[in-house]
Amino acid sequence: MTRVPIRLRLTAAFALAMAVVFAVAGFFLYHRLATSLDRTLAQGLHARAADISLLVQQTEAGLRESSFNPGNASSFAQVLDTHGRIYDHTPGLGTRSLLTPAQFSAARGGSLSVARTHSAGSSEAIRLFAQPVHAQDKQLVVVVGTPLKTRDDALATLRTELLVGAPLALLLASLLGYVVAAGALRPVERMRSRVTAISASRLGDRLPVPGSSDEISRLGETLNDMLARIETAIERERSFVADASHELRTPLAHLKAEVELALERPRSHRELELALRSVASETDRLAQLAEDLLLLARVDEGTLPIRRQDVRLDELLNGIARRFERRAHEEGRAIEVVANGAHLNVDRLRVEQALGNLVENALRYGEGTIRLAGDPQTLRVSDEGPGFPPGFAPRAFERFSRADDSRGTGGAGLGLAIVAAVAEAHGGSASVAGAVVTIRLR
Ligand SMILES: Nc1ncnc2c1ncn2[C@@H]1O[C@H](COP(=O)(O)OP(=O)(O)O)[C@@H](O)[C@H]1O
Ligand SMILES: [Mg+2]
Repeated sequence: MTRVPIRLRLTAAFALAMAVVFAVAGFFLYHRLATSLDRTLAQGLHARAADISLLVQQTEAGLRESSFNPGNASSFAQVLDTHGRIYDHTPGLGTRSLLTPAQFSAARGGSLSVARTHSAGSSEAIRLFAQPVHAQDKQLVVVVGTPLKTRDDALATLRTELLVGAPLALLLASLLGYVVAAGALRPVERMRSRVTAISASRLGDRLPVPGSSDEISRLGETLNDMLARIETAIERERSFVADASHELRTPLAHLKAEVELALERPRSHRELELALRSVASETDRLAQLAEDLLLLARVDEGTLPIRRQDVRLDELLNGIARRFERRAHEEGRAIEVVANGAHLNVDRLRVEQALGNLVENALRYGEGTIRLAGDPQTLRVSDEGPGFPPGFAPRAFERFSRADDSRGTGGAGLGLAIVAAVAEAHGGSASVAGAVVTIRLR
């Protein structure tokens, strides 16, 4: 069943329902017509029997000579005597009683209807009605009859019409159902064939959405929205990989140049040591870059684990200050901590990493005293420099973004992206204003 196309299944179900409806309706129609025809015939026979009874009671004249008009040329009547012999009858009738002996004795006791029988000596179906009547001092039985041909013909005509018309109507309705179902499903097929063509190299492609505003067009729109999201995600991924490769290339090129220069000609021990130191620091930068890229990749995967623990605010900030004390001192800068013994519930290592990035930036891009401040919900790092260039602030937390775009001078532009990622992993956010960077935590 599941391998049959939906449009065929729909049509089949529709046709089945229609067939049942047609059959039931046809049966009722036929039955109604038959009953109503039979009732009319019966009423006619009753009326005629009453007329003839009156006639027999009132006149001496027989039915043959009387002016009695049966009203219907094809209907006929007999009057039977006590012994069932024909006492009188309308013209054109044979000489045999219309009633069998059993019917005759039943009719003598009261009125009798015979819905279908055959007139003697003929195959014509007739309907009979008989009733006893007391006339001319005799106990007589009046029998009236009418042929069933007209009734049977009417019913036969209806039957033929139903048997021919209903299947035709059914066929027509099914065809219409098929056309409608196929039409409704055609957009689905168009979407399906487009989907098979969409690949990583054709991410901009969208599914054809029908102009109607029904379930199928909504499905198309929803799928297109999904394609747009996937396209954005993949493009983001691609530019991340491209930027990362670019960032890795510069320090690698430096490394290679350093090593080649050192090997160019015989060097003194002192010169070699200097070269190796430079190589070591370049390697450190590479290692840090790899670390940062890995962290951001895990953020994208959604697998950056946050291990919350209870941390004292002042201990946290003082720890950071101590870590940068020497470097700050060398540059003639001061680091100041403004914090109390409040407690935070955060991933200590991640938050330290974020704060380290901010102090690093303040040392590199800022001026004057560096201030570390906070309360249980926010952490702030500020300096006394000019702060972020106004146009740059909205992009500051993007990956690989730097206000001064000369690569190689500073970092790779990942520091603030990591700050934002850590804040978001804690259910918070990061923002800049002037030379103040605020991390909101939850
Ligand atoms: N304290 C600050 N004052 C002024 N500009 C800053 C400050 N901190 C960061 N910036 C700017 O923001 C940019 C992005 O910083 P970051 O994401 O840490 O990348 P990176 O340090 O690798 O350049 C920096 O290149 C710098 O232009
Ligand atoms: Mg930085």
